[in-house]
Amino acid sequence: MNKLRSLKHQMLLSLSLPLVFFVVADSVLSYYVTQHYVNETYDRWLTDSAKSLIQEIRVRQDMVSVELPPVALEMFKWDEEDKIHFKIVSAEYALLAGDAIVPDPPLQVEDWSVPVVYDASLNGEPARVVSIRIELRSGAEPVFVCVAETKNKRRTMMRDFLLVDLVTQLLLVMLTGFYLLAGTRHGLQPLQVLAGQVARRSPRELSPISDIETFIEVRTLTDTINDLLGQLRQAVETQNRFIANAAHQLRTPLAGLKIQAERVLREPGAIAYAPALLQIRDCADRLSHLTSQLLVLAKSEPIKGGSELEPVDLHGLSREICMEWAPLALQRQMELAFDGPGHPVLVAGDATLLRELLGNLLDNAIRYGFERGNVSVVLQEWPQPKLTVSDDGPGIPDSEIGRVFERFYRLGPGTGCGLGLAIVKEIADLHRARIELGRGEQGSRGTRIEVAFPALPAGAAGNAQASPECCSSK
Ligand SMILES: Nc1ncnc2c1ncn2[C@@H]1O[C@H](COP(=O)(O)OP(=O)(O)OP(=O)(O)O)[C@@H](O)[C@H]1O
Ligand SMILES: [Mg+2]
Repeated sequence: MNKLRSLKHQMLLSLSLPLVFFVVADSVLSYYVTQHYVNETYDRWLTDSAKSLIQEIRVRQDMVSVELPPVALEMFKWDEEDKIHFKIVSAEYALLAGDAIVPDPPLQVEDWSVPVVYDASLNGEPARVVSIRIELRSGAEPVFVCVAETKNKRRTMMRDFLLVDLVTQLLLVMLTGFYLLAGTRHGLQPLQVLAGQVARRSPRELSPISDIETFIEVRTLTDTINDLLGQLRQAVETQNRFIANAAHQLRTPLAGLKIQAERVLREPGAIAYAPALLQIRDCADRLSHLTSQLLVLAKSEPIKGGSELEPVDLHGLSREICMEWAPLALQRQMELAFDGPGHPVLVAGDATLLRELLGNLLDNAIRYGFERGNVSVVLQEWPQPKLTVSDDGPGIPDSEIGRVFERFYRLGPGTGCGLGLAIVKEIADLHRARIELGRGEQGSRGTRIEVAFPALPAGAAGNAQASPECCSSK
């Protein structure tokens, strides 16, 4: 698998590398430019010194000397940081005056009409030397006047300039770095917002992501995700439509099969085939139950946004369904009680699916509860609408609690197809309701299933129908 990399780090790296390169290139350039100007400035001073020295050269009886009072000579040589020496040499480099330690003028110089400045060493120290060729008398041999100066001043000046330059560069890098960091973070924020929007969605929420983003790049990503969501929505809808159609198509022949089996059973000569016919009828019954459960499952699966749910009165609906299931409870001599607040309790929902949810819970409670047992449906309004169906039957073993919501998962023998609780879960998820499965009212036995719905926002009550007072049935 490819190593996961951070886009932010990648962007920072690609922006910082050129920055570092430019800073280094600029520093190198600064070094040479500073060196050039420092040399130019001090070279000019050195040349001026050499020229002023030339004014003081005298020739007496072929002897060359610099006629400077000792104080003036002292002043000429005096410098706080550097050592300055001069010498006058003949065309053959014979010392005529001054200090021998001053380096000789260079040999290969094409143009001596201007002072020649060059690097050399003075007593082992790096120095700068200026050499001027002059003719002391017209027609006489030319002589060279060389003035050498160590480079301490230049070094100090270079260091000061470069230090200022470096500090400025560092400040610039820090400011740019800070700006880059803030800019990258700010630039990537729309992606984080988009990621948050996608992450907050439930798996069934395949509605398009809203187009609030104004950045082209993010909009392109949003469009691509929306295209994908659209295709996924279509695929899921096609699959659900197929299941619903298949289930629907199966219903009629199954009903026919059951009727035919019952009709043959009533025939006088059918006694010999009664067990087989009864099995055919029961199988048709079970198949028909399976197809209706599949139909409900397919209906509860369509990809819907919360906005398609409407206010439903859970109180009236629960009461109605309890009454519908009362005959089956009576058949098993069970007591089925409903307890509600006595006034409408509104939730955002789909009435048909909510009927299926409660119907499946009641079916289980009545089917799996003990004969002559108790089944109760309690509707609470506060702090949030909560429907609780409990029985005092054998209950679901703790080890199975995590699995009973899986599709086609059943415990022990029975006529069910293992889809009831899966349907309950699908419908609860669709309503963003929380399901809790626990022990019945007695605490140690029975089953209690709570479905807690999110409270309806104030003002969303719409025009849901009020229901009559709560009831209890046996
Ligand atoms: N109230 C209950 N008491 C005891 N066991 C239960 C109860 N409700 C569910 N169960 C167990 O959980 C299993 C799964 O229930 P579920 O409703 O999903 O499927 P089913 O009832 O077998 O089939 P279907 O509801 O699709 O006809 C059941 O087989 C049953 O053993
Ligand atoms: Mg069931």
